[in-house]
Amino acid sequence: MEKFVIKGGIPLKGSVEISGAKNAALPIVASCLLIEKPVLLKRIPKGNDIFTMLKVLNTLGCKSSWDKENLILDASNITSTEAPYDLVKKMRASYYVLGPLTARFNTAKVSLPGGCALGQRPVDLHIKGLRALGAKVEFKHGYVSCKAKRLKGERVNLKGAHGSSVGATINVMMAASISDGITIIEEAAMEPEIVDVANFLNKCGANINGMGTPIIKIKGKKKLHGTEYSIIPDRIEAGTFIIASVITKGNVTVKKCQPEHLKTLINLLKEHGVDIHKGKDYVSISPLKNTKPLSIQAGPYPSFSTDLQPPMVSLLSVTPGNSTVVETIFDNRFMYVPELTRLGADIKLIDRYTAIIKGVKQLSGAPVMASDIQGSTALILAGLIAKGETHIARIYHTDRRYVQIEKKLTKLGARIERVTDPHAP
Ligand code: EPZ
Repeated sequence: MEKFVIKGGIPLKGSVEISGAKNAALPIVASCLLIEKPVLLKRIPKGNDIFTMLKVLNTLGCKSSWDKENLILDASNITSTEAPYDLVKKMRASYYVLGPLTARFNTAKVSLPGGCALGQRPVDLHIKGLRALGAKVEFKHGYVSCKAKRLKGERVNLKGAHGSSVGATINVMMAASISDGITIIEEAAMEPEIVDVANFLNKCGANINGMGTPIIKIKGKKKLHGTEYSIIPDRIEAGTFIIASVITKGNVTVKKCQPEHLKTLINLLKEHGVDIHKGKDYVSISPLKNTKPLSIQAGPYPSFSTDLQPPMVSLLSVTPGNSTVVETIFDNRFMYVPELTRLGADIKLIDRYTAIIKGVKQLSGAPVMASDIQGSTALILAGLIAKGETHIARIYHTDRRYVQIEKKLTKLGARIERVTDPHAP
């Protein structure tokens, strides 16, 4: 198994370019199932989740090829409408094929994704949306089957107990884009990735309005056509590198990002005491001097992102004073905290949703294990400032989003290596 070995203590310096957004690329790739003509996608991040999504699409008969950094997808000859357990269990986002397959072929069978490291993560809102559009949905043998004569526009509210659902908003929006009539999604999620999927579909001939607001209106079309499209930058990768610069007291310019999508993080870091400059597509961070503890609540966009909560907790773990971080989306998002405390952080979990962090002077390197994608970045950032060596196992979580994160960090001066360790868990 591979692991990261990090020798902490180097302030990061220089510039780093951000890749395309994983969470926009995944549904955009899945939505190509709606389209009978080839599509060319630019700036697709080559993290492992994208390769899992491509395997799902290939299983369905969709052809894919790379032309340098561009991905060409051709779903003109779909041979199956069933996404099997072996692939869906690897990545929940495989569930994104359900809406497009039902819309274009009137039938789809997709394995239920089950729980994951972050908590329960049900799919009831996806199903509620597809049922509202007229799909008959059945659950049998661990699979969900959708059947419809032709999807019909309807009004549907996609708010759940933990806020509006990103995945359900996207799945229903994709399905409604080829249907009869008008669909209104109420209490839609507003994440930039949803706007990107809608912009892509509109470029293919869909008629979607209101994306990025709580009410999305989709006028169904008969067919969509092929196009070329470039994915937005990954705001979570950008935010992670910004926090990496701050935690190491470094001086990093994060390039090819969209600062507009990082407003809440930037405001919080300013409150923390960080000197940040932003331009149209970059953010520069000056070395940190005096910092203040923070009280943060992670929630749906435009609130502070739950995906940036773990690296932020690493930063607050070395910030003098008491900070509080409240998670509102996932019931198991603090899985990485016990590992962070192995590095010397002083964090008390009051319950599944609240962490009280007492800043310590110094973290110390130790062997730790990653539990999920962003939990792994919390450990990497902690390793960058810990005294001595930190060994991080299970970095296959990191590789799901980040394309060789160690290369980008090494270019900024970090001492981080990917090594193969047959004894690593
Ligand atoms: C997306 O997950 C992202 N994944 C997550 O990023 C991200 O953390 C999350 O949105 C929140 O921003 C992708 O885009 C692939 P939700 P998603 O549906 O769509 C509950 C990463 O590492 N819910 O907005 O699955 C759910 O349990 C990942 O890149 C229902 O109750 O999130 C959660 O509490 C981690 N019923 C809340 O809603 C449903 O049918 C929000 O989940 C669906 C969701």
